[in-house]
Amino acid sequence: MNIKRRDFIRNSSLAATGFAMASRYSAGVFAQSADARLEVLLDEPLGTISPNIYGHFTENLSGVIYDGVWVGEDSKVPNIHGIRKELVDEMRKINPPIVRFPGGCFADSYDWRDGIGPTDKRPRRTNFWAGGETAAAPASHRYDPNRFGTNEFVQFCRLLGAQPYLAANVRSLPAEQFYRWVEYCNSPPGSTTLADERAAAGFKDAFNVRYWGVGNEAWGCGGNFTPQAYATEFRRYTTWVPGSGHDLAFIGAGPDGANWEWTRGFFEEMSRKGRGQLRSLYGWALHHYAWNLSRGKTQDWEKGKGDAVNFDPVDWYELLHEGDRMESLIEGHWQIMGEFDPEHHVKLVVDEWGPWYRPGSELTPGDQLEQLPTLRDAVFSGMSLDTFNRHPEKVDVACCAQLINCLNSLYLAHEDKFCVTPVGHVFTMYAAHQNGQSVRSEFSAPSVHYDRDGKPASFWGLRGSASLHDKQLVITAVNTNVKDALETQVLVRGARVSSGEGTVLTAADIHARNTFEQRQAVTPKPEHVESKAIL
Ligand code: AHR
Repeated sequence: MNIKRRDFIRNSSLAATGFAMASRYSAGVFAQSADARLEVLLDEPLGTISPNIYGHFTENLSGVIYDGVWVGEDSKVPNIHGIRKELVDEMRKINPPIVRFPGGCFADSYDWRDGIGPTDKRPRRTNFWAGGETAAAPASHRYDPNRFGTNEFVQFCRLLGAQPYLAANVRSLPAEQFYRWVEYCNSPPGSTTLADERAAAGFKDAFNVRYWGVGNEAWGCGGNFTPQAYATEFRRYTTWVPGSGHDLAFIGAGPDGANWEWTRGFFEEMSRKGRGQLRSLYGWALHHYAWNLSRGKTQDWEKGKGDAVNFDPVDWYELLHEGDRMESLIEGHWQIMGEFDPEHHVKLVVDEWGPWYRPGSELTPGDQLEQLPTLRDAVFSGMSLDTFNRHPEKVDVACCAQLINCLNSLYLAHEDKFCVTPVGHVFTMYAAHQNGQSVRSEFSAPSVHYDRDGKPASFWGLRGSASLHDKQLVITAVNTNVKDALETQVLVRGARVSSGEGTVLTAADIHARNTFEQRQAVTPKPEHVESKAIL
């Protein structure tokens, strides 16, 4: 007997739904009553969703490390070995798989040796971002006290159960310092002088760091290289690095957005020395920020930016439109990579993504690049994570930029004040996708039409992703419409659904956000999922 089961979700903004499945079956047609439909094709697997696409990024930039992550052992702010306890407690809820440090642009000015050894002997250095700091910012943002270094970062990762991902300095340190840093982190206890230094700091066991970024944005702040020159450096830095029995994963500094020439130039130059050279490359880092809300008027990095909290519905759609370019960027770079690496050994690592607005919304005056996430950023983030879920064979790691007190932050903190942003709640709702089998999901919903400065424009209405975990199906979906909820009918092909439950993140006001005073303005709510069998 063929059984059809329809499940209804009333979806506004963002929804995560879990279905339990009783048995395999085949299904037929949809009923016509719902606003939107979703067909999940369990028999069309796309690949396993790498947990690491739910990764994070903590750069030594303004309030991210000092104040955000690190408060110090003597602080009145509750902490674990100097690390903000509330942050650790919140992050444990989202199952963070990987955290990137120390940059970003900061990485290519950082000497890892400054951040190890006795804390009272560590030098103070001018931070890469010092020039953008205002008088309101504390001195630690301008002059790096190096109190939070490799040991403290690895301790942070251990508290979270996350893997460390370190970005090495290629612009201003020699290759030797790269492999010495790897040696410090990974050589077995008692084996090398650096292992002894690590043990003297209280870390006898190796850190076992697998993921290593070889520079950052080498086309810009990472050294202004040409792709060919950077490929030469990449080969040199990775030719010999002590493995200490670890399968090290080297990540190349990839393109900014649609810089196809950067990807082609690098892969071409790497292969010129023989295709085997690409075997030293584990991942290719792609960065994409959605920043241009000028509606086509300018490409100027400063003038094109919009406001984080004061926006109209057109700005909402424009931001989503900019962010939605992620899918074509993944596909485009993947295609070029495949010309040189047809078996696709090299994966994409989207280690910086998110919206980037002009300054002005920061909760803590003086926190450079801090912005206040609203419901719009939650929708943006859900859309981005769904995109990664739909490309499991291509995207292996992704890091939201950045974890706390910065761009698309999950958390905001200042001294003893703390809040989870709507973006943080999205990571809670989406965490269940990790390690699932991504399956094809076909969304069918009316597009949104709007007026873009006198010209008609449109954006898709509903999209998402689905993953299977034994007999559990996880579906997440984003409704982009600024006002209308969508009753969505879900048809699961290939299983009989026994029960379902849903969670929705939405608000009456598209500008809704959480602050230190109003921590619960935007929080996920349980949503009724109606299940019906159709014979
Ligand atoms: O995330 C902020 C900055 O954006 C990073 O330091 C850099 O890599 C990118 O340009």
